[in-house]
Amino acid sequence: MDKNAKEIRVRFCDFDQGHVFKFWEILSEDERVRLLQQTKNINLEYLSKIIHSVLHEQRPNQDLLAGIQPAKFIKFPNSEADWQQCRDVAHVGEQKIREGKVAIFTVAGGHSTRLGCTVPKGMVPITPIKKKSLFQIFAEKILAAEKKYEHQFHWIILTSDKTHNETIEFFGKNNSFGIENIHFIKQGLMPAVDFDGKIIMEARDRIAMHPNGHGGALTALGQSGMLTMLENAGIDTVSYFQVDNPLVRCVDPYLIGAHVKNQSQITSRMVKKLYPEERVGLFCENNGKMRVIEYSDLPGEYAMARTPTGELQYCAGNTAIHVFDVQFIKRFNGDDIQSEIPYHMARKIIPTIDNLGEPHLPDTPNGIKLEMFIFDAFPFADRSVIVESKRGEVFSPLKNSDGMDSLKTCKQDQLRLFAHWLLQAGADIPTDATGLPPFDIEVSPMFADNEKDFMKKWAKLENKPAIGPGQYVE
Ligand code: UD1
Repeated sequence: MDKNAKEIRVRFCDFDQGHVFKFWEILSEDERVRLLQQTKNINLEYLSKIIHSVLHEQRPNQDLLAGIQPAKFIKFPNSEADWQQCRDVAHVGEQKIREGKVAIFTVAGGHSTRLGCTVPKGMVPITPIKKKSLFQIFAEKILAAEKKYEHQFHWIILTSDKTHNETIEFFGKNNSFGIENIHFIKQGLMPAVDFDGKIIMEARDRIAMHPNGHGGALTALGQSGMLTMLENAGIDTVSYFQVDNPLVRCVDPYLIGAHVKNQSQITSRMVKKLYPEERVGLFCENNGKMRVIEYSDLPGEYAMARTPTGELQYCAGNTAIHVFDVQFIKRFNGDDIQSEIPYHMARKIIPTIDNLGEPHLPDTPNGIKLEMFIFDAFPFADRSVIVESKRGEVFSPLKNSDGMDSLKTCKQDQLRLFAHWLLQAGADIPTDATGLPPFDIEVSPMFADNEKDFMKKWAKLENKPAIGPGQYVE
């Protein structure tokens, strides 16, 4: 070990990161082994290149914005003819699903710092009555689709070091909620660095590491062997969504149909932005290529710009619901695209140690996390399609502990959707002007996860329950 240890330490000094071993002389044997284990997995050439590009090269913001236009999208249906077209498109999607060519991919590696929860976000109880977790909701939606399409899906869940063990334990305890083909893959990690590019230590024997952003998701599919598994299973389409959205349709015939019909490589659902500062990425177009510009990268004048009729000019909010072509993911895993994907930096408070090696939690941001974003892959697609969606039907993200996009708004959005289905199906339920009922109700995803299926099932119910407080429809 000594020779090895020496080589590693020298390498860190060569890259101006020798401080990582500052406490080496007083570390115990176990601590030394741990630190060596961690440091030997860090590619210093790669890290230095990234640090240099985010700290010293001009931010590519201006390049990114040069020539951007609002993205074109397929508008939400507005006439009977539009609806008929939608039904035809969904039919195409259903065929693809029945042929067994679709797999499901959930990204759940994030830290949930804004939500302030101590468990992985997917485990947070979120439904109004049964308090089902996000993971359970998705599992039940998938199970319902398995029943409907008579096909067992592969469900891949991306975790990170921070969420992996707990997520696996949770699924284990719940017998994977009945899903047979479930796969957990871990995304990569990156060291956090300070504003001078120096690696931050979390303890004397430990570097502060964090997940490398969901941009690592497509590579994780390649590196974990999942891509090969998908190809061997004859799957050519991946339905992708984030763990934080209880309203997502995990198996979405319309979106998949739009993907197939347009021979698209990436097909996304968008919702109209509610107000200029809303924290959603924006679908834009540049040289005919679709891209998402993150809210934090979009200057105010773009975010506020309005059309002559008063609508936001850049209105296409990113729901982070996408359908990917497996061949595109494969191409993305090749070196030529990989090396083009930029890292973004997020200034954060990163728990660290002081000069004496004692734990220290700064009051203000002391470093940066380096992350790749999945949508930086989008401009590499030859063909992509965006479809407009009704927010309340597919999108209610859980981000914050209170206020917007919180547990409270997610619950209210579920209640509104359930009440809407019931009203459409002819049931009697009071609501306020926003469609919110005055009491809690819940519809199991096993009963329905969309209006059309709900109406069909409701019509068939012989003994329809009277809808009142606490009614669970299953
Ligand atoms: C994200 C999108 C934004 C979109 C919004 C919709 C980014 C950068 N922005 O914003 O364009 O409008 O969602 O809700 O994604 N994750 C990982 N590994 C990581 C980091 C994140 O798996 O290393 C997962 C999280 O678990 C979560 C998702 O990615 O499921 C989103 O991450 P988050 O940091 O919450 O993104 P937002 O800023 O909310």
